Amino acid sequence: MEFHVSLAGRGDLSARIYRQLHEAVLDGRLRSGEKLPPTRELARTLAVSRNTVALAYERLTAEGFLVGRVGAGTFVCATPPVPAPQAAGRPGAVPPRPVWRTLAAPPARVAGPQTHDFGVGVPDTARFPMAAWRRQVTRTLRDVTAGDALYGDPAGHPGLRAEIARHVGLSRSVRVPAEQVLVTGGAQQALDLAARVLLEPGDRVAVEEPGYPPARELFASHGAHMTGVPVDAEGIVVSALPDDTRLVYTTPSHQFPLGPPMSLDRRTALLAWARQAGAVVIEDDYDSEFRFADRPLEPLHSLDRGDRVLYVGSFSKTMLPMLRLGFLVAPPSLLPALRSAKRLSDLQTETTTQGAMAGFMADGLFVRHLRRSTREYAARRALILSVLRRDFADRLEVVPSTAGLHLAAWPRGEVDVAALVERAAAAGVGIADLAEYHGFGAGRPGLALGYGRIGTERVEEGLRLLGEVW
Ligand SMILES: Cc1ncc(COP(=O)(O)O)c(C=O)c1O
Repeated sequence: MEFHVSLAGRGDLSARIYRQLHEAVLDGRLRSGEKLPPTRELARTLAVSRNTVALAYERLTAEGFLVGRVGAGTFVCATPPVPAPQAAGRPGAVPPRPVWRTLAAPPARVAGPQTHDFGVGVPDTARFPMAAWRRQVTRTLRDVTAGDALYGDPAGHPGLRAEIARHVGLSRSVRVPAEQVLVTGGAQQALDLAARVLLEPGDRVAVEEPGYPPARELFASHGAHMTGVPVDAEGIVVSALPDDTRLVYTTPSHQFPLGPPMSLDRRTALLAWARQAGAVVIEDDYDSEFRFADRPLEPLHSLDRGDRVLYVGSFSKTMLPMLRLGFLVAPPSLLPALRSAKRLSDLQTETTTQGAMAGFMADGLFVRHLRRSTREYAARRALILSVLRRDFADRLEVVPSTAGLHLAAWPRGEVDVAALVERAAAAGVGIADLAEYHGFGAGRPGLALGYGRIGTERVEEGLRLLGEVW
């Protein structure tokens, strides 16, 4: 990369060149190992004598910022760490809107890999058919036309929209034409688009408590007035929904994070309430493809008769989170606004990934991957449940669920779950504290165990270690 040196400023020419290179190394614009232009070349570009540049290089070399290698050139040899930005910034620094001070910072990356990782909400990336995916990506790039390389429809790749419509129609009885499907950057962007077109600042949004923090925080960031609504064995408690709620966010197939499916009675009651209150319901069906019971309950979307439900799906569990692919099935009345919101947000989702996903689905590879993954996750889940029944019956009560990638459980008796999670982590066992998912005060203590990451062969050992640190 060419580094631009300006000769403006005070001091002799050599000092100016020195100062700019020095600053660039200090602030990380020039990184360790990067090659600087030869003195002769930089001198020519700047129309100064070679000696002027050589003097600057020599001083930086003497100070340890550059190193010359005979026959190879001059290289940056140290990048002092860039100081972390201070939360408050310098006096007079530009602050964000106040709401951003109340939202959680993105979690830091987990310190070290756990040997027995019961992490929640993540699929088994090692089982992903990467070779088949790579072929789809290659094929998409090979077939790309000059037109494809420009901007596409903000609503998404037509082939992928059609495949998603077919998929949700077959597997979830969400029957819609492809025109009602919007491809999004994960479920998260689907929620963001919905919030943009539906919410005025101060509108009330009801979320499940405990619930999915990125959804809660997203609506809060749009200026919504947030209410946490309790969840019982049948799902969100409809009678606790405030009358002035504009939008309800819910996870009916596999309540996040507790796990129970919303009962049919509760689904019907929620839709009746939404009709009467004039509220919109967002149904986040984030991991229901992994189903472990015979008959799934009808999604809210298909029970709805009044176009009140926005159905959100994600490819983060069924494929990989890194693809950032999700979708939104919306009522016709909202489609033009949602399409515009998508355009204003990021113009469109990246085309290669969309094309590859469309091919992956059209070739039957998605369904095959789902079938295989479900079989594997079912085995892990059954094993966890049987070990919990055998060894933890007096310590844990498992919350019933029929789908998804994790289980929740209530400790029997007094247990400091946060301390337990810490002790488990020290022993190499990753489990989650349900307190992480509460946004409106402390809730019932509990923990969650995922089976997306942990291999079947490690389950018994992981739970034995957990038992040891209990
Ligand atoms: C409740 C819920 N919704 C959605 C998602 C997926 O979000 P995304 O598609 O943005 O990765 C997750 C992932 O953990 C989730 O737990």
